[in-house]
Order: sequence, then structure tokens, then C-alpha cells
Amino acid sequence: MNELAGKNILVGVTGGIAAYKVVEVVSRFKKMGAEVRVVMTRAAAEFVAPRTFQEITKNPVSVEMFAGTVNFHVEHIALANFADVVLIAPATANFLAKAAHGIADDLLTTIVLATTAPMIVAPSMNTKMLEHPATQANLKILEGRGVKIIDAEIGRLACGTSGKGRLSEPENICAEIVKFFAPKILIGKKILVTAGGTIEPIDPVRFICNRSTGKMGYEIARAAKNAGAEVILISGNATAEPPSDIKFVKVETALEMREAVLAEYENVDAVIMSAAVSDYRVKNVASQKIKKSNETLTLELVKNPDILKELGERKNNQLLVGFAAETENVIEYARGKIDEKNLDFIVANDVSQEGAGFGVDTNIVSLIDRAGDIENLPLMTKAELAEKIIQRIAELI
Ligand code: CTP
Repeated sequence: MNELAGKNILVGVTGGIAAYKVVEVVSRFKKMGAEVRVVMTRAAAEFVAPRTFQEITKNPVSVEMFAGTVNFHVEHIALANFADVVLIAPATANFLAKAAHGIADDLLTTIVLATTAPMIVAPSMNTKMLEHPATQANLKILEGRGVKIIDAEIGRLACGTSGKGRLSEPENICAEIVKFFAPKILIGKKILVTAGGTIEPIDPVRFICNRSTGKMGYEIARAAKNAGAEVILISGNATAEPPSDIKFVKVETALEMREAVLAEYENVDAVIMSAAVSDYRVKNVASQKIKKSNETLTLELVKNPDILKELGERKNNQLLVGFAAETENVIEYARGKIDEKNLDFIVANDVSQEGAGFGVDTNIVSLIDRAGDIENLPLMTKAELAEKIIQRIAELI
């Protein structure tokens, strides 16, 4: 949970009703170890009391340019220099206009002009204001200057209408900041990740599936993307939210997953096979819904191809990472899979432990390499584990 340790984040809050959501954003930054300074516009201070941010950040919150000090000129420069990144959330139409045109008529806009730190803005406003050509042009100007825009979402707005203009959720805003700070250790690399569980049909309405939510693989794809890689995510059944800015391929069966993986295999630098591939499929899939006419029903299953094993056999220079979900003899079975599937390392997972495996946000795993060296990792979030796996891959390629 210390993804932001040692990072200085300047949060600029402008006057929108969504300012209250930024309390949660700032709180998350603090939990992730960041040093946070908040600057509010006067209008923002109408929506949330500066004291709220002050208590959370344990730092003074600045609103006024000339706030009773003879050294006023120092403050905006000090804050401008403090920032490793400047986040503006919520960003009003008025703020975007001023930032786009270099107007500095209050403390926040003066800091924005005085800082050389990269800026990330999360707009939030009424749909018509957002869609107005002036606002759209201002967003383009900012984007052209390298400012990252966290798109507003569609939903119900405070003004009573529905449409685009809701502030992006605190979770997304935080993810963007974590992404911004992630070391770009995989730039120029192409990474293929599989995730989720395959679906093996029985008849037109029924199927065999497993408990995979796709969370682990989706986090790996996200971490690879954050590290600067080009990412292809091939996913079976999953409930997790896929990361943006990647190639996302949805498949159902193990056979479809095999085909999708092989189509990309030649051109990638690494494959992380975190999908829960069904080992068997139904031999004769019924073309019509099976009726409950008999007391018992026997399904004949045939073995699915082992995708990872096939990749191991066809390996050129690709780095191959497998997962081993076990309930006993974890290390021994995982080691066997390294040899059998020609892997570079394996993430061995005792799914019988509390806090590990399917449907939870955490995992407890061991990383085992070809030489048999074992790194036992403590309980950590899947996002943290994903970063560890990506670090390991970066070291190896
Ligand atoms: N895997 C695969 N194709 C399959 C089955 C598994 O590519 N048909 C991959 C998984 O994505 C995982 C690794 O192989 O990375 C290990 O999967 P696991 O099910 O733990 O092992 P199996 O090899 O299937 O062996 P067993 O089920 O007997 O433990």
C-alpha cells in the first residue's frame, strides 16, 4: 500500500460540487504514503471546508493569494516547486479556460503557471458546459501541452440532469496517479497476459466454468501498462474491470483462448498465463437445451490443449510465466510445472489459504524460478503482487 511513498502531490480543488469526492482521493493518497498539499479556490472552499483537507493531509491548506503574510510571493513558488505532479480535481470549466490561456488571477492558477511539474486534470461540470466548444477547445489546448485529462463520466449530475460531466471516481483518479509514478521499466516491450476463466459449453444455455474473477490477470495487465509496455489482454469469463489503453481480446473457450494466444505469440516479449483454463471440455455439446428426462446425466469430457505447455514447446525468445493454483504440495507441483511447460518462473499459489486465490483482493504466493530459487511473498494485494511480477519480468528481459 505504499505505492506513493516519497511522492509530493499538489492537489488543486476548484469550485464544483464534486469537491467532496476529492476528500476521498486525498485520503487515499495519504494511505499510499504520499506527501499531499491542497490548494483550493475560493469557490471550492464554499463546498468543502479547507480544514477537512488540512486534517487529512496534516498540512496547511492554501486558498488566498494574499493570506495575511508579507511573504505571499514565496508561497506560490514554494508550492509550485514542491509538486512532483499537480492534480486538479474537480476542474471546472472556468479553471480549464484560465489554465489553457495562462491566466493567473488567484493562488491556484498562479501556481499552475509557476510550476514545471506535469499536470493531471479531472474535469467535472454540467454536460452542456463540458460540451461547449470553448471548453472542448480548452481541453484540447491543455492536452496538446501534455496535460493528462481524466475523462468525466456519464451519470446523474448535481444540477438534476443526466449526462457526461460527473467527476471520475476516486479509485480511477488514484489509479491514474499511481500509473503516473510507476517506473517505466517495460518501455518498448510487448506483453501478453491471459486472465479469467474459460467457459466450456454443455448446451446452448449451460456451461462449465470456474471461480476465476480475472482480477489477478487484469492487475498484471494494468501494471505492465503502467510500466510502459504495450499490452494485450486475452480474457475469458471475468468480473474485473479491464484497464484502458490496452488491446483487449475477449474469448470464451480454452480452444478460442489458444487460438488468440498463438496469433500474438510470435510478436511478444513475454507471456503471463494467469487464466484459469478449463482442463476439460464437453465432448459433444448439445445443439438444443438438454431436458431433464433422465434420473442421471453423464457428460463425457475430453482434455483441452495445455496452452502454456504448447507455448513452452514453441518458445523462441519469449519469457514465459505460469501460475500454479494448488491445494497441497504447492512448491513441488509448481517446480514440476516449470520443467514440464518450459517456464522462466512460476507464481505458486496455495489457494486453500485464507486471503489467497479466487475472488479475494489479496494473494499469498511464492515465485519460483528455473534454478529452483524460491521467493516467498507475504500476503499482499493483487495490485501489489502484479507489480512484483512485472518487476521480475523487467529484470529478466
Ligand atoms: N494452463 C494452460 N492450459 C491449460 C491448463 C493450464 O495454459 N489447459 C496454464 C494456466 O494458465 C497456468 C498453468 O498452466 O498458468 C498451470 O495451470 P494449473 O491448472 O495449475 O496446472 P495444470 O497444468 O492444468 O495441472 P493440474 O491441473 O493437474 O494441476
